[in-house]
Amino acid sequence: MKIAIVASEGAPYIKSGGLGDVMEALPSALARIPGNEVVLILPYYNKIKHDPNRKVEQLKYFNVQLGWREQYCGVMKLCDRDDGVQVLFIDNDYYFGNRTGAIYGDGDDCERYAFFSKACLDTLDALGFYPDVIQCNDWQTALVPIYLSASYHHRFPYTKCMYTIHNIEYQGWAPGNFFDDVLGLPWHFRNRLDMNNSVNLMKGAIETCHMLTTVSQTYSRELMYPYYAHGLDGVIANAAWKLTGITNGIDCNTFNPETDPNLPAHYNADTLGEGKAVCKVRLQEEVGLPVDPDTPLMVMVTRLAGHKGLDLLCYIARRLLWEEKCQLLILGTGEYQYEHFFRELSEEFPDRVAAKITFNLGLAARIYAGGDIYLMPSKSEPCGLSQMNAMRYGTVPVVHATGGLKDTVPPCDENGEGGLGFTFQSYNGDDFYATVKRCLSLYNRDRDAFRALQERDMRQDFSWDKPAARYMELFHQMLGK
Ligand code: GLC
Repeated sequence: MKIAIVASEGAPYIKSGGLGDVMEALPSALARIPGNEVVLILPYYNKIKHDPNRKVEQLKYFNVQLGWREQYCGVMKLCDRDDGVQVLFIDNDYYFGNRTGAIYGDGDDCERYAFFSKACLDTLDALGFYPDVIQCNDWQTALVPIYLSASYHHRFPYTKCMYTIHNIEYQGWAPGNFFDDVLGLPWHFRNRLDMNNSVNLMKGAIETCHMLTTVSQTYSRELMYPYYAHGLDGVIANAAWKLTGITNGIDCNTFNPETDPNLPAHYNADTLGEGKAVCKVRLQEEVGLPVDPDTPLMVMVTRLAGHKGLDLLCYIARRLLWEEKCQLLILGTGEYQYEHFFRELSEEFPDRVAAKITFNLGLAARIYAGGDIYLMPSKSEPCGLSQMNAMRYGTVPVVHATGGLKDTVPPCDENGEGGLGFTFQSYNGDDFYATVKRCLSLYNRDRDAFRALQERDMRQDFSWDKPAARYMELFHQMLGK
């Protein structure tokens, strides 16, 4: 099958969050399936352009028409990927070059990704690669199914489009006149993109795609409710007939405690006792916490954003530190209020709390390995990957039972039996508090049972093999085969 995957980020080239990880591993998993030809298209951001590790060649260049604009588009092919995925970068300095700072957040983001989406279709056409399936992701590529059905169907008569929602919070809102000024779509598409007299790109994609997926089963059901859908619950409900949830995997080669080059010691489920203990002690040294193998170390690697449940942690942190013998380590950057809170907390409890307000993949791996307990109280979580990373490294998750957290962390009882971690149902600080205490109590009371739970976590299959097979089933279904 010929598959084109279109996304605004993909590791190891460029990544701001989980979408970037998925775009590293999913294309690769699909390319491993015999008979598949996989092309991945990403924007050629400055950071990639100036990365000395990337060898590229230009395949084509042409202009892309965007409303009244004619914009240059260069198609750059990555030369040194060896897993069968062909990676193409869309080159345009005006949209992706001379920007500083983050990938997203510019005032003209909707125009940038409108250009990108249209350029992807022009690229496939120019290369004569007419895919059976285009899989696209989040609001940035929402215009792919829309352009495909509005003005490219004669060039791609047999191509079906799957649209995947990784996070419904970001929808691609633009003012009403964006439709005429930038998009250049037939007038009858106005309705599909319209929401409260503004343009909502994600809404248009949900209505237009052939198949809609999201990144866990629970999230696919949650999206029907206003609490989770950020205004799109009605639109999702109308599209429910074509909506499926496929829970993400993680890249088990990158995230492998037996081989991870970032770790001071290696281990697997059988040698967890020795290897993980070394990782813990060395981590405590590295982050400046007192070295103590017997104090439970609670960790978090996260964007410091509200929906990650940080308000709950702020609410319980002091009480927890007063009442329990434990250490807390946080790695991440984000909203000022949380950065400030955790900095202050670490000053107040220098022997108990370490806050590393930075982005550091190596340290992240050492935290997954060196921690005992992984906290993830997200308010909502489409899938979540770090709870799986944590389990793969034998760190027991404590999570809010929502979205992918609910699907990947079945609850265990107070003896650590029957599940993979500790979960709480309703989003409030007291339930979170009680759940953390249950986990700490198991650690303090019955270390063998805690160890057995860690081993079980490590033995789970979080690889992409099963999800990739599920994507294939849906692709075949779309194609009517
Ligand atoms: C988004 C979601 C996260 C998910 C990731 C990959 O970042 O917030 O829950 O794991 O996408 O699908």
